Amino acid sequence: MKFFIDTADVKEIAAATELGLVDGVTTNPSLVAKSGRDFHDVLKEIISLVDGPISAEVVATDAAAMIKEAEVLAKLDPEKIVIKLPLTEEGLKATKALSQKGFKTNLTLIFSPLQALLAAKAGATYVSPFVGRLDDVGHEGMECVEQIRTIFDNYGYGTEIIVASVRSPQHVLQAGMIGADICTIPYSVMLQLAKHPLTDIGLEKFLADWQKHVAK
Ligand code: G3P
Repeated sequence: MKFFIDTADVKEIAAATELGLVDGVTTNPSLVAKSGRDFHDVLKEIISLVDGPISAEVVATDAAAMIKEAEVLAKLDPEKIVIKLPLTEEGLKATKALSQKGFKTNLTLIFSPLQALLAAKAGATYVSPFVGRLDDVGHEGMECVEQIRTIFDNYGYGTEIIVASVRSPQHVLQAGMIGADICTIPYSVMLQLAKHPLTDIGLEKFLADWQKHVAK
């Protein structure tokens, strides 16, 4: 399973890259706003740090304006930049046009398997179901991912599934069990993945035993 990091904080991206955990990056307008920086400046820095797909989201809401924004964003790095678009009718229109022109797209704010199916039919490169936000309203976020996996496999869609709105290691585990292609993970959750109390206890004991041995 590929790991993307879900952040616009370049320090987090650099730290996760050092751990060997970054196959790509996803950003969204809220994450860019949180960084407090100019969107294009942030993207340029991420491009210099990461050798993989980088999702940059449009903020226009009509297809023609989305396409214009996409063209400007993709110029920053046509290979790495993936245009992130909301799963709306206008977003689907823009996705179809952009995919025909060879742009990579990531359809975001997906909350149902049928929305994901529409994205795949429009030619999306990626779909991003938001599992945490579904859980927040009493649904089973991962059930949506499971259904998308089944539909894509049934019909051989090449659109990759990015499990997004990841809140815990449990989401990452379930994404792997379902066979999602990618998990986009906040840096804090990436760090949690490495932690296990038995690892810490075990290491402490190994080192204590070693000290006793060398002291003999
Ligand atoms: O990048 C989109 C998604 O991962 C947002 O997550 O935690 O704001 O629901 P969250």
